[in-house]
Amino acid sequence: MKKSTPITAAIIGCGVIGPNHARALELDGRAALKWACDIDAKRQGRIAAPKFTRDYREVLADPEVDLVCVCTPHPVHAEVACAALAAGKHVVCEKPLASHPSELAKMIEAAGKRPDLVAAGIFQHRFTPFARRLKTLLSGGDFGRILQASVEFRCTRTEEYYASDAWRGKWKEEGGGVLLNQAIHTLDIFQWWLGGDPVEVDGTVARRRMACIEVEDFGEARVRFASGSSAVVRAVNDGVSGWGVDLVIEAEYGSVRVGDSHRPVEVKHQSTSLATELWAMGQVRLDGIRMPGKAVYGDHHALQLADAVSAILEGRKPFVTFQDASAANAIVLGMYHSTAVGGAVSLPLKDYKTPVLPLAP
Ligand SMILES: NC(=O)c1ccc[n+]([C@@H]2O[C@H](COP(=O)([O-])OP(=O)(O)OC[C@H]3O[C@@H](n4cnc5c(N)ncnc54)[C@H](O)[C@@H]3O)[C@@H](O)[C@H]2O)c1
Repeated sequence: MKKSTPITAAIIGCGVIGPNHARALELDGRAALKWACDIDAKRQGRIAAPKFTRDYREVLADPEVDLVCVCTPHPVHAEVACAALAAGKHVVCEKPLASHPSELAKMIEAAGKRPDLVAAGIFQHRFTPFARRLKTLLSGGDFGRILQASVEFRCTRTEEYYASDAWRGKWKEEGGGVLLNQAIHTLDIFQWWLGGDPVEVDGTVARRRMACIEVEDFGEARVRFASGSSAVVRAVNDGVSGWGVDLVIEAEYGSVRVGDSHRPVEVKHQSTSLATELWAMGQVRLDGIRMPGKAVYGDHHALQLADAVSAILEGRKPFVTFQDASAANAIVLGMYHSTAVGGAVSLPLKDYKTPVLPLAP
């Protein structure tokens, strides 16, 4: 459904990330923010919008609203996003789309029923020039067959962080720990570069350090893809080393090693000019669009929101559809289920159990 400017937008959830969406829309300039919505009245004013409500249904009932940004906690994504699509609104939903496979399926179904609407899942790190160029080269065959791939993610999330909001750290409310909330960006970019379509996960998650949460602070898995290739993933909330990524893809004609902020640490290729060009893409800095929020979020919400607005105006799919955004989400939920049932599980999951994770002695 093509639309002409201005687009009228609403943000549901005025916590940490909501203001980031507001800033991204402001920078883009083609969408006017009409509504901010939060069940917590104290959050009124965190986002400058002409209207505020505590009930998202009031936003969805406004015929002027074209675009709804879902910035609520994980278990509220499916409810709001599906209702917004059913009400004929374009949707941008924060990661992870869902904390349960049935919610993930509902969201994909809701988006499938309205192919005329934009249904975009936030994975802002896909938008860097390096990430996009590497994807093009890998999917275009320039690296040849992938021989081995692995990713390690680490971060520090403290007791204070988990105490900051009631929904964090619990299976029912957050739906997962370091994998579902923090590592998912890195898992997403990794699986995307590898061609996506994960079909099997054999994983283990554990709670090794954090006494104050139910969910995992460690996880590792082997993931198999429809292409026949497989990869190893590992993530930890270790409390001391800060945030970091070590991602390696070794292929027939070259290899890449990617580090913090998903920037290249090493690029090797039998074509020196290709290696040089790819390395240079990794040095590009998008100065001037510093976004609110923590540095680890990066500044690329601006690019993803601009893509969603362009998609609405051009009547095309967004760069990261709900279907695209569901892959990393499914891998993580697969790791939880794999731990609960004690073996490899096929994706999409037919049933789902979250594991009980006693604190490691
Ligand atoms: N892409 C990123 O880099 C990034 C960074 C941070 C957070 N996030 C994601 O953004 C989402 C929100 O995270 P946050 O850190 O902003 O959380 P938050 O707790 O700071 O904010 C969420 C807000 O939603 C409100 N809310 C809850 N239920 C609601 C409802 N039914 N209707 C309206 N408002 C409701 C809460 O009152 C709260 O103000 C999560 O999915 C999180 O994983 C993404």
